[in-house]
Amino acid sequence: MVRVVSRSLASCELTHAPRQEFDLEFARRQHEAYVAELRVAGVMVTVLPEAPDLPDAMFVEDVAIVLDELAVLTRPGAMSRRPEVAMVAPNVAGVRHHTFEIRAPGTLEGGDVLRLGRTLYVGRSSRTNADGIRQLAEMVAPFGYEVRPVRVQGCLHLKSAVTAPAPGLLLANPGWVEAAAFRDCEIVPVHHGEPGAANVLAVNGRVLVAASAPQTADRLSGRGLDVRRLDISELQKAEAGLTCSSLLYVHPTEVAP
Ligand code: GLY
Repeated sequence: MVRVVSRSLASCELTHAPRQEFDLEFARRQHEAYVAELRVAGVMVTVLPEAPDLPDAMFVEDVAIVLDELAVLTRPGAMSRRPEVAMVAPNVAGVRHHTFEIRAPGTLEGGDVLRLGRTLYVGRSSRTNADGIRQLAEMVAPFGYEVRPVRVQGCLHLKSAVTAPAPGLLLANPGWVEAAAFRDCEIVPVHHGEPGAANVLAVNGRVLVAASAPQTADRLSGRGLDVRRLDISELQKAEAGLTCSSLLYVHPTEVAP
């Protein structure tokens, strides 16, 4: 699931980046190229319509967590983003029978949730609080998932600091997250000149890496990964990463009963 870039993108939330001029058409072309890359990777893409008054609505990853057996609608820490949840709720209900909701005072954003097998590592960030993490843990436990909180600092979300380009392999910025928090994984650090490079998207055997992180991309290619470099420079002005612009899930017909 992806959502068309909002015409109000220039009013997006910014936590660590300075506000800059946006070229909306360029941002939309980059988003379309991202969607095309997903399709090339074999993803069946549902494009949700633009939400003109919700600047960050294209970052669909943050408003829902879709696991094989259930989905959780989040409660974003950013107030301006809370109306995005109701907009995506019918679409999420269409792909998962069991749908839960994070309630006040909990806050949680999907960018803070890194799934590795049956473990959900959840970043304690400016957007996700302890109550949100507790609620998530209670919701997923009956389905056999364990939640492990992780401290993050200096970045927006957990997945700004660490993602999994391949099974058993993590790409991380050790300055933003404590690598020792992750069990049974080999950690590849981002190149020191590319602190934001850890947010890569692994999809169907390919790894999408931001073109702004060539040295980190080389590091992953050198390990035999099928790396695709994607220019998301205009979207990065809105603190976009590669994961946050889509909500990836196993199609309902492919989920084991
Ligand atoms: N601009 C993305 C976010 O702050 O949620």
